[in-house]
Amino acid sequence: MAAAAVAPSFRRDALLRANELAAPGGGGAADDEDYWREVQRAFDLDRTIINLNNGGVSPSPTHVLDAMVRDLRFSNVAPVHHMWDVLEPRIEGVRRELAREFGCDPEELAITRNASESMETLILGLDLTRGDEVIVTTQNYPRMLTAWEQRSRREGIVVKPITFEVPPRSMAYVVDRFRQAITPRTRVIEVPHITNLTGQIMPVRELVQLGRAQNIEVLVDGAHSFAHFPFARDALGCDWFGTSLHKWLLAPIGTGFLYVRREKIPSLWPLMAAPKTMDANVRKYEEIGTHPAANHNAIAVALAFHRAIGAERKASRLRFLRDRWAKRLTNASDRCRVLTPLGDPRQSCGIGLLHVEGVEVPKMVAHLWDRHRIITTPIVHQEFSGLRITPNVYTSPEEVDVFGDSVLAALKTGLS
Ligand SMILES: Cc1ncc(COP(=O)(O)O)c(C=O)c1O
Repeated sequence: MAAAAVAPSFRRDALLRANELAAPGGGGAADDEDYWREVQRAFDLDRTIINLNNGGVSPSPTHVLDAMVRDLRFSNVAPVHHMWDVLEPRIEGVRRELAREFGCDPEELAITRNASESMETLILGLDLTRGDEVIVTTQNYPRMLTAWEQRSRREGIVVKPITFEVPPRSMAYVVDRFRQAITPRTRVIEVPHITNLTGQIMPVRELVQLGRAQNIEVLVDGAHSFAHFPFARDALGCDWFGTSLHKWLLAPIGTGFLYVRREKIPSLWPLMAAPKTMDANVRKYEEIGTHPAANHNAIAVALAFHRAIGAERKASRLRFLRDRWAKRLTNASDRCRVLTPLGDPRQSCGIGLLHVEGVEVPKMVAHLWDRHRIITTPIVHQEFSGLRITPNVYTSPEEVDVFGDSVLAALKTGLS
């Protein structure tokens, strides 16, 4: 009991201290371990496990989880009143703050449960006719490719997947791959802002410009970009954007948002039907039936945590941790290659894909877990393969070093 009562204030102290340290002149550089230790203390983690898959879904800081649990308990007292009348209206504050962060009007942003819901709203909600063409890449997220494929089976639209090399020779090369696939029938381009496979940041701004000049809608899958590295809507210029918030924002599981430029809202159908009176109202994408208010309201708490660290500071820490394992391994062994463009911050951030020559990816992933309790993500794509490594703000340099040691030891002695 005593420990439970003490723990939250201990964490609050840690947060205050992290904030203090982040003040001008107070440190907080990418390698300032005094600062990052305070951030680490905001999480309740099992430090016997080294979790290098923060791309799938991330733990929330403890106080974010506490806020959600508090509101779930409050809801449960009398959900019809506490949840619907008291907590649900607070979604408007979440909308306002997310919109401020993304750089759009709150009337252009819908709160969803994840990037899948946001992107499927876009993919299934645009009117297209038989023979209309959609350009995707073979590195788009599989669920989105499945959604397009279903539309193709159901309605006869034509899906044209392009490939691009990893790492690409240049951003211009990537744009050219799209340009070459455009025909007079192209209506849509769907592209990840940053791929979940190698962590390649795509030239979204250039693709939006390319599309706009030819009346092609460019749908941006930002599942991994929002709150991972700093950018705002106007830097992309996009009309359509979907993201999850349980990845890089560290919000509770089951949170995301959908952005639709205001004048486009009437042209995009919601996934679940909404009345005609809501045609131009972004809240039509939130007509999903009964759902917890606690989860989406705690987004505001996660956003405050994100702002306390600062988007730039967070991105530089993530790059610092990534470089720590990536540079070490590529310098130590000719068999290690990183398929993520490390040298260009416009093209990568915290995610990196490690390719180890002569090693079967699933076996290496299993070895790291079985022997060292390190979580990595196996990527076995038809064009390349490797271990996807994604540290987070709570990851210590020592944990990254244990990963590096374990890979090098495995290369020396073999997998067991
Ligand atoms: C590029 C991309 N899009 C969409 C998703 C789906 O995210 P969620 O499962 O949160 O809907 C992911 C998940 O990893 C992803 O990497």
